[in-house]
Amino acid sequence: MPDCLLALESSCDETAAAICTLQGELIASRIASQIEIHRQYGGVVPEVASRNHILHVRPLVQQVLADAGKSLSDMAAFAATSGPGLVSSLLIGTSMAKALSIAEDKPFLAVNHMEGHLLSPFMNGQGPVRPCIALIVSGGHTMLVHVLGVGRYSLLGRTRDDAAGEAFDKVAKMIGLPYPGGPEIDKLATRGDPTAFAFPRSFLDGRSLEFSFSGLKTAVLYELPRLDLKSEQTLADLSASVQAAIIEVLVEKLVLAARQSREKLVTVSGGVSCNRGLRTALTARCAKEGLQLLLARPDLCTDNAGMIAFAAAQRFSIGHTSPLEADVDPNLSLVT
Ligand code: KG4
Ligand code: ZN
Repeated sequence: MPDCLLALESSCDETAAAICTLQGELIASRIASQIEIHRQYGGVVPEVASRNHILHVRPLVQQVLADAGKSLSDMAAFAATSGPGLVSSLLIGTSMAKALSIAEDKPFLAVNHMEGHLLSPFMNGQGPVRPCIALIVSGGHTMLVHVLGVGRYSLLGRTRDDAAGEAFDKVAKMIGLPYPGGPEIDKLATRGDPTAFAFPRSFLDGRSLEFSFSGLKTAVLYELPRLDLKSEQTLADLSASVQAAIIEVLVEKLVLAARQSREKLVTVSGGVSCNRGLRTALTARCAKEGLQLLLARPDLCTDNAGMIAFAAAQRFSIGHTSPLEADVDPNLSLVT
């Protein structure tokens, strides 16, 4: 009796495959990272990304099946990220999942990448998915979502300009750190003084749940001519100060959203939620506020197929499947 589901993720520069049980327990997950390849260009090159997805996707499927000790006939369905992301990348994972669905005569599920991030804090036995305020902080998105149940989401606020991850990456690039900049700033910040530079915190008006990070980038740009970027300590102080400015806004807006909606559970996911300073600040602030905090496990924060498999399992368990004609959508929205 098929009791598992295989999912593929190829929305940007990571090719990933995972298998989870129909209850959402992750049993195998692998990522073929392209970070080293794109680092030489200072960012993701779509054409290069899709060519590498083609090279990696089939071996990854075989590897996760071997890791899980399963065969294709044990899969009850096949899933893939259908958006948002790079269209030429999304097509590789969805085409492969659809081909497996046709070959095995099993359903196909198109999964929204942001729903993968959104539900990831409920993995590893933290479920079931229940009402909460979710903060998603990734390279392309920063949003606050009121989760009422699987598929029942209402958008409370999003960024008006740069995403939090984008702010980390752009500042890192300006001070000569390699791509992706978030983890580099995270490392340097541990040795720096977060009060060394007073960078702006954009709260917009007091009750707004929207974000804006582009002013921070401009503030760093104005500071640059006065700095000695060869000094390790300057880089560390700048990193700690930039990180502190981003963290403060994220934490305060999450708490504000919880207060406004009277939810007691808050979740945080997406690549930026790996950030150690952010995790520490969230833990302290939520404890003070009497909020229960669920953070995605660090290896499930950045792009992976485990979260796509988990989201697909949640959807499949309430009877959702997608037609094979379902197209990829680079701008797919989480809320309609
Ligand atoms: O969720 P993700 O892997 O991909 C998207 O869906 O965008 O997020 C990638 C983003 C990048 O901007 C990266 O710099 C950031 O997450 N990131 C971090 C950390 N690890 C990854 N930002 C701050 N601190 C980190 N430790
Ligand atoms: Zn992502």
